[in-house]
Amino acid sequence: MANVQDGKTPGQTRVLLVDDDQNMLDSLGRLLRPDHDVFTAHDGKEALSVLESCGPFTVIVADLKMPGMDGIELLSRVSRAHPDTVRVLLTGHADMQSAIDASNLGYVYRFLTKPCPPEILRLSVAAACRHAELVRDQRELYALRRCKSLLEGVVKGFSALVEARDPYLAGHQQRVTRLALAMGQELGMGKDDLETLRIAGLLHDIGKVYVPADFLSRPGILRQEELSIIQMHPQVGYEILKHLDQDWPVAVIIRQHHERMDGSGYPLGLSGRFIVQGARILAVADVVDAMCSHRPYRQSLGITAALAEIEKNKGMLYDERASEACLRLFREKGYSLTEQADSL
Ligand SMILES: [Fe+2]
Repeated sequence: MANVQDGKTPGQTRVLLVDDDQNMLDSLGRLLRPDHDVFTAHDGKEALSVLESCGPFTVIVADLKMPGMDGIELLSRVSRAHPDTVRVLLTGHADMQSAIDASNLGYVYRFLTKPCPPEILRLSVAAACRHAELVRDQRELYALRRCKSLLEGVVKGFSALVEARDPYLAGHQQRVTRLALAMGQELGMGKDDLETLRIAGLLHDIGKVYVPADFLSRPGILRQEELSIIQMHPQVGYEILKHLDQDWPVAVIIRQHHERMDGSGYPLGLSGRFIVQGARILAVADVVDAMCSHRPYRQSLGITAALAEIEKNKGMLYDERASEACLRLFREKGYSLTEQADSL
């Protein structure tokens, strides 16, 4: 029967000791209990049952010589059924070759010879716990990388979907993102904020999926009701993305990318400090790229006119610092909208 210890601390590492010698279990238990939540079993069969009913365990320490199932057989089974449990084998000198074989076969993380000095055993179990933590961290990192790669694919897929519906939007979100990121760097934004800005830039017009395609490509002036529908796209984009992590303001930036500093923008008519920094930057980048692009109702107005618009309205319609960063990039640092943005 497993000997579940009283007073265990939640989150403490759990160690299972397996030995047919009760005195050995008692002394190992006394040694390890201050640092670990210790369980015990008297043979391999009982150990497997404890692993099933009380697991997961961080570390299992098993004696080699036990009646019935020996320590190597037990740890080889544990390696298959509970691969995250780090396995330590206790062995006599005479069984050294068996222990080396078990180690080479991957059943055992470390083996210790009996009689084992208490400090060596204590340090070995501590090392096994750190190893378990490292393995868990690596797995979490791998899962995060997979998630990030999946998110990247979804973001780029959605971005392409919007642009496919509107021939005049081709490449727009990529160019806006590239310019917004350059402006963000110019303003000294941190890595996390730049990443948020990147995702928001790539998706900022996602709400246009709601707009009938012929509104987007029809030449001539739109009627007021058609314009009203197009002007809903920041709010629609927000609705699509608002369930993303609450601490990740991509949806908020998208909702605010047509707001203006004097409150004359849409959809909420927010002004000044109520507009987040990412949206202020995106707004300037969006205007510059839109003015430089052909539209169904007009030709490109060109970069000179676009920069003149930003200069004229900086501090009124557009955030002053974002506007100045944009002007600096084009006028002093040779920035160009036509460069490739493939690496976004
Ligand atoms: Fe937009």
